[in-house]
Amino acid sequence: MSESNVMEAGAGIARCKAELEERGWTILARDLLRDGPRPALAHFGRIVPQFNGEETYEVTLKPGFEKLPFSQSKNSIGPHTEAPVYDPPPKYLALHCHRQASCGGGQTLLADGFAFHASLSPELKAWADANDVVFMASAMPGAERRLFRTRLVEEKDGARLFRFSYNQFRFGDVNPSEGDLAQAAGQSAQTPLGQIAECGEKFFYEHMIQVLIPEGSMLIWDNQRLMHARSKYSDPVRHLTRYWLS
Ligand SMILES: [Fe+2]
Repeated sequence: MSESNVMEAGAGIARCKAELEERGWTILARDLLRDGPRPALAHFGRIVPQFNGEETYEVTLKPGFEKLPFSQSKNSIGPHTEAPVYDPPPKYLALHCHRQASCGGGQTLLADGFAFHASLSPELKAWADANDVVFMASAMPGAERRLFRTRLVEEKDGARLFRFSYNQFRFGDVNPSEGDLAQAAGQSAQTPLGQIAECGEKFFYEHMIQVLIPEGSMLIWDNQRLMHARSKYSDPVRHLTRYWLS
């Protein structure tokens, strides 16, 4: 790279960092990734292993998840924060888009979790601030579960961390199996946590921004602040690589 290109890339990264700090998400355009995703990600954090024990996870269509709200299906996925069972959950999530769906679906959806927390009714807010939630997640639907007990908004080392999972609150697991989906149907709104799930989903779809990540670009967002979700898609070529950063 020439010296002017290096300076330009440095300015581009600085702009993305400022944007990430201010609104919780940013997009690294293709030209900032010309040396590959890892040197660019090193400006934002350290890559950490995911549920599969690997530093990358392929978000693309795989057989066996046709009826599930799972990353490797074509289905929509409800609002959540990633890996709420981790202490702490990854600070940033990154999705590097290789092939984008051309069917009109497959958007990554984002909304601010702290704004949602602030929007809760006084009763639900008091409940959330006084009670732990037991987060439960399987790496894959039906796999062994990890548990972590904490508040919806955790205060840790002077920072606030937001966790949320519509699937977990409604169906008992971040990655529900078909059995989880069937069992929990219809019993959501009875409990404070069920009400928080419903309010969270409503807030999310009223306030979300929709990002169709351009091919060759990478979306990065603050996973300790924003909820994310995915709209359904039908184009089987869609392929992104996911990274978790500490
Ligand atoms: Fe996710």
